[in-house]
Amino acid sequence: MSDLRLGVNVDHVATLRQVRYATMPESKNAEPDLIVAARMCERAGAQGIVAHLRSDRRHIQDRDIERLRENIMTKLNLEMGNTPEILDVALRIVPDEVCLVPEKREEVTTEGGLDVIANRKTLEPTIKRLHTSGIRISLFIDPTLEQVDAAAELGVEMVELHTGGLANAFTEKIQKEELEQLRAAARAASESNLQVNAGHGINYKNIELINQIPRLTELNIGHSIVSRAVWVGLDVAVKEMLAAMAKYPG
Ligand code: PXP
Repeated sequence: MSDLRLGVNVDHVATLRQVRYATMPESKNAEPDLIVAARMCERAGAQGIVAHLRSDRRHIQDRDIERLRENIMTKLNLEMGNTPEILDVALRIVPDEVCLVPEKREEVTTEGGLDVIANRKTLEPTIKRLHTSGIRISLFIDPTLEQVDAAAELGVEMVELHTGGLANAFTEKIQKEELEQLRAAARAASESNLQVNAGHGINYKNIELINQIPRLTELNIGHSIVSRAVWVGLDVAVKEMLAAMAKYPG
């Protein structure tokens, strides 16, 4: 049995609710309920729940984060951009973990990793404040040795390696190169005593490649699981992903 853990990102459960009920948040018809979904993921075996509170509130709302904090049994990983407004929410709600991500208003989803080298000065005070509240911190980075080193210097507990390049590789050659980069970054991060997580674009096909990245502790997966749930239900979708992850050699 692999000990690779799964954090399910529930953003797109909230997306489905928002497309109909964004202007009627208190409606008794508002569905699907995010807490029911999160609890279902946990009962299916997920070891954590992930949600991204974006500045434009396009899917997850502040109230969702509060309710997740109150109701989930595993751990809450709040993904957030490094802005004073969202930092205030994090310090009020105190999730178990925060994953700092870059955020652009016009992007469809998080596009690249956080440039830890360029943003060091603005990251430092945020990291300090989150640590003071006892929150474990992850930095979502591109899989390069430079970013891993910069993350290690900032004293965070974890990095999440951006797997989008691998997931979206058009050719086998690019796929191979992306996998090698991820493997090298994972080794380097682990040798710097960072917990190594991975996420973005992971699905039921490319999980076989992800399973070839060494030293991983956790995968954070959203879109593919919520999409699969349309066909088989959330419980089965989570269990299927956990079964694929169980092949991780460790
Ligand atoms: N990890 C991070 C840091 C992300 O920004 C996202 C997307 O919100 C995910 C994981 C999940 O990505 P996906 O929805 O493609 O599985």
